[in-house]
Amino acid sequence: MHAPYEVPRISVANTPLAKTDTDLIIIPIAQDRADETLAALDSAIVGDVRSALQRGEFRAQPHELYSVRTTAQGWRASGVVFVGGGNRQEICAERLRRMVTAAARVAHQQKRPRIAWADVEPGVLTAAARAEIVADGAVMANFDNGFHKSRNNNGSQFFIREVVVLTADNAGNGARNGQALGAAVNHARMLINEPGNYLTPRVFADKAAEFGSVPGVTAEVLDEKQIEALGMGLFLGVARGSAEPPRLLTLKYTPANAPAGKMLGLVGKGITFDTGGISIKPSDGMERMKDDMAGGASVVAALRCIALQGLPIRAVAVVPMTENMPGGKAIKPGDILKGASGLTVEVNNTDAEGRLILGDGLWYARKLGATHLIDVATLTGAVVVALGKITTGVWGTPQPWVDHVLSAADRAGEKVWPMPLFEEYREQLKSEIADMLNSPGRPAGAVTAAMFLKEFAGDGAWAHLDIAGTAWAEESKPWQPKGATGTIIRTLVEVARGGFPEEKIR
Ligand code: BES
Ligand code: MN
Ligand code: ZN
Repeated sequence: MHAPYEVPRISVANTPLAKTDTDLIIIPIAQDRADETLAALDSAIVGDVRSALQRGEFRAQPHELYSVRTTAQGWRASGVVFVGGGNRQEICAERLRRMVTAAARVAHQQKRPRIAWADVEPGVLTAAARAEIVADGAVMANFDNGFHKSRNNNGSQFFIREVVVLTADNAGNGARNGQALGAAVNHARMLINEPGNYLTPRVFADKAAEFGSVPGVTAEVLDEKQIEALGMGLFLGVARGSAEPPRLLTLKYTPANAPAGKMLGLVGKGITFDTGGISIKPSDGMERMKDDMAGGASVVAALRCIALQGLPIRAVAVVPMTENMPGGKAIKPGDILKGASGLTVEVNNTDAEGRLILGDGLWYARKLGATHLIDVATLTGAVVVALGKITTGVWGTPQPWVDHVLSAADRAGEKVWPMPLFEEYREQLKSEIADMLNSPGRPAGAVTAAMFLKEFAGDGAWAHLDIAGTAWAEESKPWQPKGATGTIIRTLVEVARGGFPEEKIR
């Protein structure tokens, strides 16, 4: 099998825990409500964990695990593991997903093909939201980064095959949505992890078009000639240094039941490898720049989920795809490029390539009719300085649209924080000889990158998400392996679920 993941079957059942025939039952437990949860459980299972809690050996901290044996106790499951949640009031979407993923990753490591989640700790979420997160988290845990290793288990990988959510609630829809979301996130993570020699712009375009082509979606891939005919000089300028030709991917979702006149436009940065170009990057850590298409993979995955859920909203995903390479034909610092919108840019640093391709990408999304734009990009090292690897920065206008994105991120359990677009920052973009510079210097580097994009966003609604800090995990955590995180896909789907914040935006 040549993929790092498989999608397990997910079902919802209401069998008593002791009678559930599975390989591992996972039971969430809140630190401040442990007694309540244990009192409601079969006494055969609670003695061990109760004394561990009393001894302080297990404290039910967030995603802390405690295994108990079941064989002699009349349970059908071969294993039971408790997963801590901290205090009940803090068990929100992000916390719950990490609890699920941490426990299910252990099941994956232990090669347990069937797992069940006991929905006994409500946290602060509804039953449907919990089922979605449990399914999503379990699918995400079923991911094995090592699939390119020729000696990975003699070529045979292990995957969890079956996940059951044990609940009395009618949570089937939530579980199905979560399964689709987790699968899309895994697929995006696979694409993002792929090295630059495998995932060239042409390969990325083909794979993304195939992945995004679900019922209701039409895919289109434009080649370098068609891109040129559209006048996309910024995008083509970046592509010039590469022997690999660029591609422009568009996915369109136009359901019959959608309000006319409004269209969500998702624009993703699709640099399949960023060397920096002639303004070349230092070698140390440059290998990470294979993830510079994470924004592109995310918008494709999100559009796929939006269509699979049949959400009543017109949406388009646009991904300019190219390498950023130094070559005999590469653009040079000081060159001037003219984009499809007519604006000219003095390229004082060829490593600020993301904003160039996104400038033309945003223009194209508007041309296709998008009224509410969101771009997603691993755009600046400066956002990592500002927010670290914890939080995605958001910029945008008008404020109700940014607020809409922020509340969607909150429901989705992803950390996003607002950043400023004060007019005063525009000063830094000034060029002597063109409409603007692409690299306005170190101060507020993530802000001036957003100011640059704003010039291409028109006067509809626009939000920019800089995921340079959050797209890649430098080390593995209990809830995620090292590598692509698949961040922001859930937020984008949640934005679409929320529709358009009508009256407030023109
Ligand atoms: N892809 C990088 C941004 C990046 C840096 C992502 C580190 C992830 C980790 C982007 O194309 C870039 O090179 N940005 C430059 C912009 C500068 C030249 C204005 C940067 O941040 O240094
Ligand atoms: Mn760059
Ligand atoms: Zn880049």
